[in-house]
Amino acid sequence: MLQRCLDLLAPALQDSTHPEPVVVDCTLGLGGHSEALLEAFPTARLVALDRDKEALRLSGERLARFGDRATLVHAVYDELPDVLARLGVPKVQGILFDLGVSSMQLDEADRGFAYAQDAPLDMRMDQSTGIGAAEVLNTYPPGELVRILRAYGEEKQAKRIVSAVVREREKEPFSNSARLVELIRDSLPQAAKRTGGNPAKRTFQALRIEVNGELSVLEQAIPAAVASLAVGGRIAVLSYHSLEDRLVKQVFAAGAANTAPPGLPVVPERYQPRLKLLTRGAELPTEEEVAENRRAAPARLRGAQRIREDER
Ligand SMILES: C[S@@+](CC[C@H](N)C(=O)[O-])C[C@H]1O[C@@H](n2cnc3c(N)ncnc32)[C@H](O)[C@@H]1O
Repeated sequence: MLQRCLDLLAPALQDSTHPEPVVVDCTLGLGGHSEALLEAFPTARLVALDRDKEALRLSGERLARFGDRATLVHAVYDELPDVLARLGVPKVQGILFDLGVSSMQLDEADRGFAYAQDAPLDMRMDQSTGIGAAEVLNTYPPGELVRILRAYGEEKQAKRIVSAVVREREKEPFSNSARLVELIRDSLPQAAKRTGGNPAKRTFQALRIEVNGELSVLEQAIPAAVASLAVGGRIAVLSYHSLEDRLVKQVFAAGAANTAPPGLPVVPERYQPRLKLLTRGAELPTEEEVAENRRAAPARLRGAQRIREDER
């Protein structure tokens, strides 16, 4: 859906009233989207964020040819307003989020994101801070683990899995992924094992979202990003999880709503929408895109344009 993201952002980045527009890639990863932005919009300056230092190192090499058009910053994306203030660019013309984990993170076995290889249960996108997945599994109260597996993994067998985890962690704390994968497989009923791919997939997703505080960070980050857009600026967000997409939808819908009390003959400016929606609902990947890249299957794209300053 890269081309669609570029198309959504294009009018704001090709606007002649901004000879040097600034576009922010909040999820730099391996730099594929950033590179496409720099190529598609030759007058634009890029600010790109990632909380993963390894991603910054690799994409730094990839984007080196763009020189000082690209500024890469180690930051969590809810820090965007501070990052922009430090760089002296309080408002920007374009913002892109491509949420979730990168293929590099999934493919690097020793980071513990993948259930297919045995590795330390870590899953932190930024390994210099916070607690890893093993500590979550070994220390959280059972009720909290059930909530996480249900909410973040949509795991119907959460109670069954958590009972097995609690029983096993009392014998010996968890440290590696293979033991957890085996335990999940053994604790599920036959029928549950036959559906939905690897039975550990949902638990791993849930642990990853918890370890990285993904939803709470996003809840702060999307409104902060909208607030950082100049009037006319555009934002595109690619989500891979229904809870992420719901958060984005809510922030965009609130921004696009008229908040005037009912019955006012003329709606004062402060109640008028400050966003215009650029996508009808969420846009999905095409069949060809999914055939080419299975990881794109759950993607949901939403876009919005800032049409007014904040006056409320
Ligand atoms: C799906 S990848 C982005 C891939 C990228 N668009 C590309 O073309 O390579 C998501 C990236 O966002 C980063 N990330 C996830 N949550 C983040 C957060 N809260 N703050 C900053 N970066 C984050 C991850 O470390 C990962 O590198």
